[in-house]
Amino acid sequence: MENLYGKDPEIEKQLAERIFLKELKECERFPKYLMIEPINACNARCIMCYYGAASGGIYRDRGEIISDELFNAIVKQMEPHAEWIEMVTMYGRGEPLLDMGLEAKISRLKDIGIKHIQLSTNAELLNGRTKELLESGVNDLRFSVDSVYKDRYEHIRKGLSFEKVIENIEEAINIRNSFYPDVPIRVRGVALEQNADEREEWMQFWKQRLRDSDKAEFIGYHPLHGEKDGGEDWPCISVFSTMVIHSNGNVVLCCNDWEGNVCIGNVSSQSLIEIWRSEKLANIRRLHITG
Ligand SMILES: C[S@@+](CC[C@H](N)C(=O)[O-])C[C@H]1O[C@@H](n2cnc3c(N)ncnc32)[C@H](O)[C@@H]1O
Ligand code: SF4
Repeated sequence: MENLYGKDPEIEKQLAERIFLKELKECERFPKYLMIEPINACNARCIMCYYGAASGGIYRDRGEIISDELFNAIVKQMEPHAEWIEMVTMYGRGEPLLDMGLEAKISRLKDIGIKHIQLSTNAELLNGRTKELLESGVNDLRFSVDSVYKDRYEHIRKGLSFEKVIENIEEAINIRNSFYPDVPIRVRGVALEQNADEREEWMQFWKQRLRDSDKAEFIGYHPLHGEKDGGEDWPCISVFSTMVIHSNGNVVLCCNDWEGNVCIGNVSSQSLIEIWRSEKLANIRRLHITG
């Protein structure tokens, strides 16, 4: 494989280390991470989420579930690379539990030997599905909860019931403890001005329910309209590591490309490898290194 980048060996070395590669150009072999969106609809309208209220209510392609045919075609292409793949994330824009076929899809991934399968959910629709989800192969379970106060929570996560979500998560923790003790649970809140004064309480609330091997954390708010987030000026790893597949088959630039504005290809008409090794993506990678 030609050395695509070659401009700044130190940047390349550090990027490669972050995705467990000896050399960055090895990234072209196959994505180390895949994010597959099972459905692009949501039962909530969270104020900070583009797919919730923050887009002003635009729901592009609303309600599309990835077809079994397309999903199976993706899995078939992943199979020879199962060892190489570090993780598959089974959510994208929207709430994955709205897809009633989610467990069957996750089982397919487990069957081909994918080692790390991650799911993030707002937990309102769990309703006794935890055991099935863990049985299907989820081994990294994430719950999104931004406040431990009912009024605030329901203001941020519009459309969801605080009591229901907490009840579902407590039940999920019990099921995990009893049947899948090795699966870590992570509760994540988005750091917002609406919850700035309750970070310590929030942490205590979850520490009382979780085990030491679990994690509760606030994640930084990602600006939605291209504003700078004040983070480091360092090339994003995503284009070297992660293939983000929307439920309509579009492969997009990254998980923050909510509207799929930078579409690299579509898995209905192209193979995963063709898209991953395309000139279009190679150019974007070069720009990330040199830009
Ligand atoms: C887009 S959601 C999809 C999965 C599921 N609906 C959920 O809420 O967990 C994935 C994660 O993105 C987080 N999120 C949403 N908007 C965000 C923003 N503007 N900045 C940072 N994280 C955000 C959510 O809190 C959630 O943890
Ligand atoms: S539940 Fe998840 S996808 Fe839905 S609006 Fe909230 S953060 Fe966005």
